[in-house]
Formats: sequence, C-alpha cells, structure tokens
Amino acid sequence: MDLIRAAAQMRGITDARRAAADTTARGAEVGFVPTMGALHAGHSALLKRAREEHPFLVMSLFVNPAQFGRDEDLDSYPADEERDLSIAEQHGVDLVFAPGLDEMYPPGLALIEPDPGPVAAAFEGVARPGHFAGVLKAVHRLFEICGPCTSYLGEKDAQQLFLIRKMVHDLGMPIDVASCPTVRAPDGLALSSRNAYLSPEEREAAGCLFLALSEAAEHARSGERDAAKLIAVMAREIGATEQATLDYAAVVDDATFQPIATVTGPTRALVAARFGRTRLIDNLRLETDR
Ligand code: PAJ
Repeated sequence: MDLIRAAAQMRGITDARRAAADTTARGAEVGFVPTMGALHAGHSALLKRAREEHPFLVMSLFVNPAQFGRDEDLDSYPADEERDLSIAEQHGVDLVFAPGLDEMYPPGLALIEPDPGPVAAAFEGVARPGHFAGVLKAVHRLFEICGPCTSYLGEKDAQQLFLIRKMVHDLGMPIDVASCPTVRAPDGLALSSRNAYLSPEEREAAGCLFLALSEAAEHARSGERDAAKLIAVMAREIGATEQATLDYAAVVDDATFQPIATVTGPTRALVAARFGRTRLIDNLRLETDR
C-alpha cells in the first residue's frame, strides 16, 4: 500500500492506472472511498465493497476544515493516522491519499466551490451553516485529483449523499456514486466517529435514534401515510429519552430530499439529536409495500 500526500502525484498514478487498463468504462478501474479517518466498521463496509468491485482501490484521509463550523470539533476530531493506515492496509487499499491542507487547498489556486443549493440549507444545514458547501468543496477537489472513478459513500449521511450525487450530475463529472447501507451497533446505533465522545449513559441513550426511526418505519409499513404522524412518533421516542435533546425529526421524498406531507413513494425518515455535547444523526428508508 502506498501513501501519497501530493495531489499531482496522486493524479498521475490514477491516470496511469486507467491508461494501462483494458477497460475504458467510466469509473470501472478506480474505486474511491473518501474519509476523514477515525475509521470504523462503517468505513470498512465501503472499502470492502469497493475492493470487490475495482482492480485499484484508493482511500482518502483528510479531516476537512471547510466542513466544520467555528464551534465544532475540528481540533478534537479523533485522528490516528497510523491506526487508519493499518485498517486501510487490512482492507487491501492500494493507495491512501492523505494530503496536507496546502495540497488539498493550495493557496492562490481558484478552486471550484460548488453551490450546494437550497437542500443544503435544511436539516443539517440549519445546525451547521456552510457545512455542505465545505463538503462539496472537498469532494469536488478529491474527485478531480483521483480522476474518473466510482466513489463509495454511506447512506448514514443521506443528505450528504444526496448533495454529492446532485453535484456530480449538475457538473457532469465523470464519476459514478455508489451508496452503501448504514452499519450499526447491536442496539441499532449507527456507527460514527463521533460516538467515541459519548459517556456510557449517553451511549445508552443514543439507541433512541434508531428506535425512533424503526417505530416510524413500522407505522409506515402498517399503512400510516401522514408524515406529521410519523414525525410525532419519532419526536415522542427521542423526547422521552433522558440525555437526548431532539434537533429535528423529518420525513422527506427520497428522490428530492424535500419534506413531504403524505407518504406516496420512496420516503426517508431523518433524525438528529444532541447527547450532551455530541450531536448525532441517522436516517432510515420507509418501506410502504402494504
Ligand atoms: P466520514 O465521516 O469519515 O465518512 C466517510 C464515509 O463513510 C461517508 O460516505 C459516510 O457516509 C460513511 N459512513 C460513516 N458512517 C457510516 C456507517 N455507520 N455505515 C456506513 N457508512 C458510513 O463523510 C465524510 O467523512 C466527509 O464528509 C467526506 C465525504 C470524506 C468529505 O470530507
């Protein structure tokens, strides 16, 4: 496994890989998993699938300051490069791209900063203004550096996934975006690098997020079509949990990420809550086959 810190070198390697490959299909040669490190089994699932589907596997490791708000945890984000590199190696990653700030955002270079549009102002965007503009700035740059590829992203961050897909579509980038289901702890809590901040009591309480989503999913399965009622179910579950402060519970059209009043087609339930100083998010697709 190689560790590359320079953007030009990185681009040269993936360009050469594609040139030497006997397939010209878009995204077929290079599988790419962007991460901010602090790797857990959620990241592993992305790496595993990408490894199976591509001859060359690239993972990026970059804690992106552009997507952190002023009061957020940039300085304390749980970075351990040695550990992350060893996990990447175990998953058969061919190349880790771990740029410094100056390689990622070279001073004086007019980088493209895609406008994430109105969807970015809702949900996560309310609590984290500018967050998605920062995510798209980093992901756009990483896609440029890594070249045409298939990028693997987690459903765990559904709004991020939606906005990255939209950016790729709107800008006509030669990238395929593949999504992977959320990996969960036995009690249903979605794995997240931020779970490490939770006290034992908060960790136990955090199970209410998946419980709330599962209850909404159960109601939808049994025929409830009124989004307000599904939202109330989720809000009640999280509201009844000591240690949890609800930020939002919402129901959106899975294709447009717009809030809906009535469930008619593919739908996703979203929740965000604070546990002490830690803010966690989760989501679940609502199946309505009855
Ligand atoms: P990070 O939080 O490190 O997540 C990297 C990828 O892992 C994202 O696509 C995320 O959705 C996915 N992921 C996280 N937890 C998961 C889980 N429990 N199950 C499945 N997938 C999971 O998301 C980012 O980094 C950054 O915003 C990034 C895209 C790298 C841009 O800076």
